[in-house]
Amino acid sequence: MMNASLSVAPLTPPPQSPSPSATPPRLAIPGSYGWPVIGPLSDRLQYFWLQGPKDFFAKRAEKYNSTVFRTNVPPAFPFFTGVNPNVVAVLDVKSFSHLFDMDLVEKSNVLVGDFMPSVNYTGGFRVCAYLDTAETKHAQIKDFALDILKRSSSTWVSSMTTNLDAMFDSIESQLTTSGSSASYLFPLQEFLFAFLSLSLLGADALADPEIKKSGHIMLDKWLALQLLPTISINILQPLEEIFLHSFSYPFWLVKSDYQKLANFIENGAKETIERAQTEFKLSKEEAIHNLLFMLGFNAFGGFFLFLISLLSNLGEQQSIHEELRKEVRAKLSNSDLSFEAVKEMDLVNSFVYETLRMAPPVPQQYGRARKDFDLHSHDAVYEIKKGELLCGYQPQVMKDPKIFENPEVFVYNRFSKEKRGDELLNYLFWSNGPQKGTTGPSASNKQCAAMDAVPQTAAVLLAYLFQRYDEISISSNSFTALTKAK
Ligand code: HEM
Repeated sequence: MMNASLSVAPLTPPPQSPSPSATPPRLAIPGSYGWPVIGPLSDRLQYFWLQGPKDFFAKRAEKYNSTVFRTNVPPAFPFFTGVNPNVVAVLDVKSFSHLFDMDLVEKSNVLVGDFMPSVNYTGGFRVCAYLDTAETKHAQIKDFALDILKRSSSTWVSSMTTNLDAMFDSIESQLTTSGSSASYLFPLQEFLFAFLSLSLLGADALADPEIKKSGHIMLDKWLALQLLPTISINILQPLEEIFLHSFSYPFWLVKSDYQKLANFIENGAKETIERAQTEFKLSKEEAIHNLLFMLGFNAFGGFFLFLISLLSNLGEQQSIHEELRKEVRAKLSNSDLSFEAVKEMDLVNSFVYETLRMAPPVPQQYGRARKDFDLHSHDAVYEIKKGELLCGYQPQVMKDPKIFENPEVFVYNRFSKEKRGDELLNYLFWSNGPQKGTTGPSASNKQCAAMDAVPQTAAVLLAYLFQRYDEISISSNSFTALTKAK
């Protein structure tokens, strides 16, 4: 079960780390869970309303002068009585890395914390992301996911560009009609749904009129309802606390949409389902619901959040467009757009990694202690007891000042090989594991199966844009100018 390459020890000490020979002090974990009911409720209100997740963690780290402390995280009170909100927050690169050591933590049902959405949302199954590495089913499904990605890699880029052509033709005509801006939020969702269904499952969304029109909206509703108790929207307070964060929503509200999506997969992804049964020994139903989760939650949900940040950063970094465009066009002067071609684009890749550092699309990761163990932060050692839940908040961990210089600033070439910044990939954790320096995702760990495909896909999108356009302007999730390459 142990994956040595993902354990804590191999993290090579970052330059500013305290000298390895200095023995770190052994400290009691600061912070407390407060009075029953009142403590969790007060923390919940701070988390969602009064502070927001970013300040919630930052302010406590400051108060305790520690990157490791005890706190409560939502959901809590009144209708989440079975959920234990007590966690140990781990907020620096070193302490967070314990979450990758499958000898130390187990990951059964802790995808979004101690709270787990009803299995009705996943066809009655505990899908891969909720399984621990000690469960044989985890290995079967994870290997299946890795196999899907490997097989689809040969057609991934061509299928992506075909769908991007359709999306940008439509955005351009919208921009011409409106004269000032064209939002990309829904076009991006339609693109992702069609492209990912085809590439991952082999299912053609365009062949089914209802799915083509509304598949992405069905996924939006399904995602929102299961995740509402844990996500901050912060636009409607106090109504949000009363109506969105106080109880979990029943599955029947999206049951009919979910069934339509499951039917779409059953009919459109026959070959993939058959492979799941013959090669990975899954039942047909297990295959369908795991595929739906991979498509909707992992891929569609993850990419949507990520690409929104990527495009928004592109809009803000107008001054470097020319440099990126030059790199893209130089590398594509003799070759077609492909994963191999984008691998050579040092600055484009660095831009993508910096986006993943500044805005990790999945902000929290959890792991439950399998046994008592010593947890090391940069500064101290703490005792963790078996059964305690660790909660890592990536947006803060990825701004660890002991690893990243000017951590709050978007430095587009931070990870560039030319600047020897690629060593920093050892500390880029968006995929629930380091981007470099380990064996990568496998059946014996919980790292995202698409650790390589995700940044490569984003690099392809950037290269596509700089190849197609001489000028790109973006503001408030809309394109405000697109000038085609001459
Ligand atoms: C931008 C897009 C994506 C993001 C941000 C993302 C992020 C993540 C993260 C953070 C985890 C670990 C969750 C945890 O245990 O706490 C994860 C797991 C997983 N991801 Fe991704 N992911 C993305 C795309 C994909 C895609 C395209 C696939 C395609 C198959 C995929 C498949 C999986 C699977 C199967 C797992 C479960 C791993 C396991 O249980 O061992 N992900 N992903």
